[in-house]
Amino acid sequence: MGNELTVAVLGPGGVGGLLAALLSRAGHRVICLSGEETAEVLRADGIRVRSAHFGDFTARVEADTQLREPVDACLVTVKHTALDTALARVPAEALADALLVPFLNGVEHPAVLRARYRPDRVAPAVIRVESTRVAPGMIEHASPFAEIDLAGAEVPRTRLDTLAEAIAAAGPAARVQDDETAALWAKMSFLAPFALLTTRYGLPLGDVRTRHRDELTALVEETAAISRACGGPADPAQALTRYDAFPPATKSSMQRDAEAGRPLELDAIGGALLRAAERHGVAAPVAARVVGELAKEHPPT
Ligand SMILES: NC(=O)c1ccc[n+]([C@@H]2O[C@H](COP(=O)([O-])OP(=O)(O)OC[C@H]3O[C@@H](n4cnc5c(N)ncnc54)[C@H](OP(=O)(O)O)[C@@H]3O)[C@@H](O)[C@H]2O)c1
Repeated sequence: MGNELTVAVLGPGGVGGLLAALLSRAGHRVICLSGEETAEVLRADGIRVRSAHFGDFTARVEADTQLREPVDACLVTVKHTALDTALARVPAEALADALLVPFLNGVEHPAVLRARYRPDRVAPAVIRVESTRVAPGMIEHASPFAEIDLAGAEVPRTRLDTLAEAIAAAGPAARVQDDETAALWAKMSFLAPFALLTTRYGLPLGDVRTRHRDELTALVEETAAISRACGGPADPAQALTRYDAFPPATKSSMQRDAEAGRPLELDAIGGALLRAAERHGVAAPVAARVVGELAKEHPPT
């Protein structure tokens, strides 16, 4: 083939495990970075994917607890709550010239990464997918799509194109976006109202959009105003139309984390939203109340 990449995947969970398996299946060398227990499972059994969209398959991957050798790219696919601890597995010297590609939801992590690694190699990605790590090395991909936007204004364009092409050839739709802020805020604008209200009320989207319509509408409008102030897109009517098109039983991953007693990405989503509102002087009373209520119910561990 001749175009094989070496890709590290920090946090081979729902997103990382799926991408690691797809890239490996496409012929790339994949090194998963995880704790020792997960690494042992991955070395022994590979990553098993169940996906109506990509097929059911098992992919061999390498696994280590730390990045120790040059790679072309390191995908960061841990949750926000684990980001700081997990980055200890990726020393800046080992990363060197490699792209660092975070797939986290939220808008603040790129600055964290740029402070720690070569800023002109940090290429934030946004992924639209529903994929769950049901056990170490076992991934269930439920959505009939997986779409990735890759950005990073300071990153050499050819490096972004090469990675996007490799990902697209492996299965997920992938494109390079010129405007990182727009890409991150487009996702945030859709995600924040949906995640915050489904989690706050412990109800699926179908109930939130009917029983809490006014609050949803207000939160969508506040989020759009904050996004606009930050340089992102703002189309509240479109967001509501998209929510209305989802199956009524749809749950957010924040809601699933709350149900399972796992830490929430509340600060990365709700906290970041409020900090952006504060910075730009945008009123966000509904967001502030909902985030406050959630923080009381789910204090950080
Ligand atoms: N899942 C989705 O469908 C989806 C969609 C869009 C965006 N996102 C975003 O993508 C990000 C990742 O979400 P996810 O659902 O893929 O999370 P996840 O399934 O919980 O996977 C996170 C992975 O990180 C690993 N991890 C935790 N601490 C670590 C550490 N210190 N060192 C190395 N690995 C560590 C976990 O390891 P173990 O397996 O050993 O526990 C797990 O495999 C989040 O920001 C989320 O909001 C997710």
